[in-house]
Formats: sequence, structure tokens, C-alpha cells
Amino acid sequence: MRIVVVGATGTIGRGIVPALVDAGHEAVAASRATGVDAFTGAGLVEAVSGADAVVDVLRPASDQVAGDEVREFFARSTENLLAAERSAGVAHHVALSVVGCDRVPESGFLHAKFAQEQVIRASGRPFTIVRATQFFEFVAHIVDTLAIDGAVRVPPGRQQPMAAADVAAAVARISQGDPVDGTIEIAGPEAFAMVDLVRRVQAWRRDLRPVVADPAARYFGTTLTGPELLPGPDAQLSSTTFDAWLAEHPPG
Ligand SMILES: NC(=O)c1ccc[n+]([C@@H]2O[C@H](COP(=O)([O-])OP(=O)(O)OC[C@H]3O[C@@H](n4cnc5c(N)ncnc54)[C@H](OP(=O)(O)O)[C@@H]3O)[C@@H](O)[C@H]2O)c1
Repeated sequence: MRIVVVGATGTIGRGIVPALVDAGHEAVAASRATGVDAFTGAGLVEAVSGADAVVDVLRPASDQVAGDEVREFFARSTENLLAAERSAGVAHHVALSVVGCDRVPESGFLHAKFAQEQVIRASGRPFTIVRATQFFEFVAHIVDTLAIDGAVRVPPGRQQPMAAADVAAAVARISQGDPVDGTIEIAGPEAFAMVDLVRRVQAWRRDLRPVVADPAARYFGTTLTGPELLPGPDAQLSSTTFDAWLAEHPPG
């Protein structure tokens, strides 16, 4: 199969391309670094020409992650991709989204991912949306966003994070299959109270800032009560545990 990975230089994309090549497929890496801009549409038609599947693992650059801009990025890049795929007759659009993005409308970023899903569903194109939980690689950044005045204030949510390598492997495998015209959830092997997850990260990187459980703390703009970001019972679970990942990744 010829499979185009849009966002191929990113945390997840750079794991998908070698996984596809190892499985005997032709993997085409696309991003602005290769002259393909999904937001403006530049180079897209040429990139998806002859593809059997297109994988969207895009994330906007840091100057486009605020407010309406992130919503516009995901909506417009998805519309551009789907239009190019329609003209090229691509038989499978695979997009990476986030578990629970439909349950936290106050979070601008997560709600933008849900809006992106709606664009795909309305397109009439054959698709699979893969909703992943938070990446282990992203948890330290999450902790930093929760820091206020020298303390890390943690909402009462729960998370079931997973390794980026496991996300990439799952997306690569799903892109080789038929479209399900629906959603597949993927998640790590263990769920944690966010406060426990934060404490593990702080111990790992020897960060002494106090960790405070705070029901009013906001997670990317939203409050959490508990299960919003947890996968459902049909989620496909990966095997890498957070402790195993921490042991293999010295804090940077
Ligand atoms: N972080 C989490 O815990 C989590 C959990 C579940 C799902 N997700 C989702 O996973 C997806 C991938 O995340 P990631 O962390 O792998 O992202 P990332 O590391 O920031 O990579 C983003 C990729 O998008 C490309 N890109 C950005 N703007 C582009 C444009 N206009 N046209 C073409 N390519 C463009 C970048 O390459 P260039 O700069 O070369 O263009 C890069 O390859 C995101 O949609 C995110 O919402 C994240």
C-alpha cells in the first residue's frame, strides 16, 4: 500500500513512517518540511496522488494553538486534506484525535479536535478516527501547565496515558486496514488519578514544587470531575507501563 503520513516529522508521525516501511508498505512523509502545507493546501494534491490511505497526525505550530486559531487550523487542514483525497480517490482517511474530546467543551484545544472529527464525519469520505489518551511524552508538559505561583494544582480527573511509540504503532496498523467509518479508542494499560500521575512525574524529574489536589484547577481550560478523559470498555490497550517508560527515559 501507498500510505501518506501528514505530520510525519512530529512525535507520532516519525514513529508511523518506519512502522509502515517495516510492514512492507510505501510510506510517504509529508509536512511543511517536505513542502506540504495542509493549512494552506500547498503541495497536498501532489502528495496524496496515488495513495491508498492518508494518515493525519497534524498539530499546529505554537503560534496557532490559541483560541479560535487552533479550531481553524484543524478544521481547515482537515477540509483541505479531504478535498485532495476526494479528487485523488483515496480510500481511507485516518485521523488521530483525543479520548474524551467530546466531553470537555470548555477546553479550546480538545473541542477543536472534536470539531475536526465532525468535519470528517460530515465529509462522506471513508474514514477511521483513532482517539488516543495522553502521551507519556506529554505528561511533564501537562504538569507545567498546572503550575501556579510555585505549586502544581491538580484537578480531580483520571487519565490512562500511553507511550507515543504505542500510539504510532496502533495508528500504523489501523491505516493498513479497512475504514471503520467510526472511532477506535486506544489507551495505556493503567488508569491513574491525575494527582498520582503528577507526583510520579515530579519524583522522576526531581521537581520539588508542591503538588496540591484542587477541585477548581483547570486542565487546558476545563474543569474535570473524574472520568472525562478515560477510554471506554472497548478501547484497545497498549502494553508499555508508565513505570517502564519512566525507567527508560531519563528526565531531560
Ligand atoms: N499530546 C497528546 O497527549 C495527544 C493525545 C492524543 C492525541 N493527540 C493528537 O496527536 C496529534 C499529533 O500530535 P504530535 O504530538 O505528534 O504533534 P507534533 O509533534 O507537534 O507534530 C506535528 C506535525 O504536524 C506538522 N505540521 C504542523 N503544521 C503543519 C501544516 N500546516 N502542514 C503540514 N504539516 C504541518 C509538523 O511538521 P512541520 O513543522 O514540518 O510542518 C509535525 O510533523 C495531534 O493532533 C494531537 O492533538 C495528542
